[in-house]
Amino acid sequence: MTMTTAGEQDGAGIRVLRNAGFSVVIDTSTPSPTVLYWGGDVGDDLSDIEAIVEPPISHGSLDVVAPASITPEHGSGYPGKPGLEGCRSDGSGWAPRFEAHRIDADASTISCISVDLVERLELHTEIRLEPSGLLRLRSAVYNKADSSYNVTALRVCVPLPARATEALTFAGRWTNEFVPIRESLQTGTLSVENRSGRTSHDRMPTLFAGTRSFTDCSGELWAAHLEWSGNSSVSVESLPNGRRILSIEELLFPGEIVLDAGASYETPWIALAYSSDGTNGISQQFHVELRGDPSHRTTARPVTLNIWEAVYFDHNLATLRALADRSAEIGVERFVVDDGWFHGRRNDHRGLGDWWVDTSIWPDGLWPIVHYVTALNMEFGLWFEPEMVSPDSDLFRAHPEWVLSDQRYPPVMGRHQLVLDLGEPAVRAYLFDKVDGLLSTYPISYVKWDMNRVIVHGSHHGRAGVHQQTLGLYALLDELRAAHPNVEFETCASGGGRIDLAILRKTSRAWTSDCNDALDRQRIQRGFSYLFPPEYMGAHIGGPVSHTTRRQHSLDFRCGTAFFGHLGIEWNVLNASAAETTALASVIAQHKHFRPLLHSGRSVRFDHPNPAVVAHGVISDDQREALASYAVITTPESLMVEPLRFPLLDDNVRYRVEVLRLVAPFTGASRHQPRWTTDGVSVSGRVLRTMGIQPPIIDAESVLLLHLRAE
Ligand code: DGJ
Repeated sequence: MTMTTAGEQDGAGIRVLRNAGFSVVIDTSTPSPTVLYWGGDVGDDLSDIEAIVEPPISHGSLDVVAPASITPEHGSGYPGKPGLEGCRSDGSGWAPRFEAHRIDADASTISCISVDLVERLELHTEIRLEPSGLLRLRSAVYNKADSSYNVTALRVCVPLPARATEALTFAGRWTNEFVPIRESLQTGTLSVENRSGRTSHDRMPTLFAGTRSFTDCSGELWAAHLEWSGNSSVSVESLPNGRRILSIEELLFPGEIVLDAGASYETPWIALAYSSDGTNGISQQFHVELRGDPSHRTTARPVTLNIWEAVYFDHNLATLRALADRSAEIGVERFVVDDGWFHGRRNDHRGLGDWWVDTSIWPDGLWPIVHYVTALNMEFGLWFEPEMVSPDSDLFRAHPEWVLSDQRYPPVMGRHQLVLDLGEPAVRAYLFDKVDGLLSTYPISYVKWDMNRVIVHGSHHGRAGVHQQTLGLYALLDELRAAHPNVEFETCASGGGRIDLAILRKTSRAWTSDCNDALDRQRIQRGFSYLFPPEYMGAHIGGPVSHTTRRQHSLDFRCGTAFFGHLGIEWNVLNASAAETTALASVIAQHKHFRPLLHSGRSVRFDHPNPAVVAHGVISDDQREALASYAVITTPESLMVEPLRFPLLDDNVRYRVEVLRLVAPFTGASRHQPRWTTDGVSVSGRVLRTMGIQPPIIDAESVLLLHLRAE
């Protein structure tokens, strides 16, 4: 086994990465690189930066101030959570100490290799400032010794400035994803840990930290997101010296990563962003990043009809054909057959794993519905849940050992199903064969890839297996995407239980939530928009009564709420009235008209002082056109609400502002409405941005869309 030697390094010292108003100052002379600063642009005069960052040493402390590096070291005197935690089987090697060995850098990347010659470990750190403005970091530890090394944690650590006193994280649950949580960051430690085996509904690996009272449009923000679809941990730790450190990592269970001689463990990418103009600035960088990913589809996102809430497991060719007819009539472009089409799957108690067509329902295979749908010029989409197996399935009967569990204990069930061990090549080969077989047989354009339970006690060969599982999922998805490059994949996990940057680099759509209630969706979708662009956001017009909340909403509110995302319908439209059908056709036509703007423009959340208001919009890159959504989600405390102020408009342009009528002419609930709501109005961008426009009175639980066009 070869081991690099340490020594004085070329290129060690202070380096700055800069991009569009953002600078990252990095010290590469520390044992592993240290992020000294990330924030507003520092310019290019770096002379004497070393001198101004030198820390004082106080009485009563060690004689050195250990660097708060990306991988800080307990063994060097760092007082907080170390970057690398682990040990050898005899307990040694628990506090490694590295020396910088090799530094490679150019204008946008820095990569460093550090070595611990005593413990024979190597640490690789990669830093990239992406064209999107995101700063992405990851590290890897290599075991260069002959004995194994057990890695407990490898976290990426960066400082948070003291003026970032408030945090925003996202909690939630099934049917109520992306719940924003605001907390003070001033004292103690903040920690968000997710052990669900997927990104989770309730503990997103994301943290925004900002200056006091930051909003969507104002304040300085520092944000972090772990690009990973398994377990995670994000925390902020206050050190005794007053520094606050943000650390972010894949959460590892005991024994999950044991590095044999020569083996390595690499962290997922950690994406960081800075904004001086509120959370919108952070969102913009994440949106640009995803839109710039090689996997990003620039083709129009087809309006979809998903049959789930229309028929559930009650698959019947005549009904599905009638649904397809109605779909084509109103302008739907993709027809999706959801759960219930495969062997034995007559309810959610059985069948998962048996990925061949159920001949009791489909004696001629899926052809009768596939031909029908494609003859109507719609794409055909199909649901899968490949990672799962029902105990009542041929697959489980043949391979009970393929389950991701510790077979010595009774498994914990979830939705009557168990998780397959995707760390096992034979399992992946089986799943590839089955999914590939169907994608090769039928003209399937889209796969809804579902995952409907959390992973509990997920053991791979007796060891904690979520890490292998997540990599196995990625490998399987990559293999299928390579074999079927024209098929679009959607990530779904009981709605939004697995939405993160890593999975969205492999999929083109996320099923945002199983909740199609427009009222809840106003907030859920706003939460989604913090990191992900609207074309990735599956947004369906549900039936008049929500299936998950039993609330009733007008068609206008349901349509206006879904309008901005990847539009779909999840409603038995055979029960829609003639007027509703005509309205749906008109809404779909309007969505297609605005789709290029909605799915390429810049999305912004508006600040509005009234908590009853939820407002957001999309503005074209050239600032010539915008579409805004003004929703009232509960009865406001005052009779009128404050003016709506539009961010991002061009101050020097006059905009024609008009109400966009989706379903019915706008009247609202008032004796007299502002004249502009009927006649339109021409106002300068500066006035709309500063004074704002007086909104009309609209009902609680309704939405008004506004179209702005430069004159
Ligand atoms: C959960 C998904 O979120 C739903 O949309 C639907 O596909 C069901 N699974 C089917 O079992």
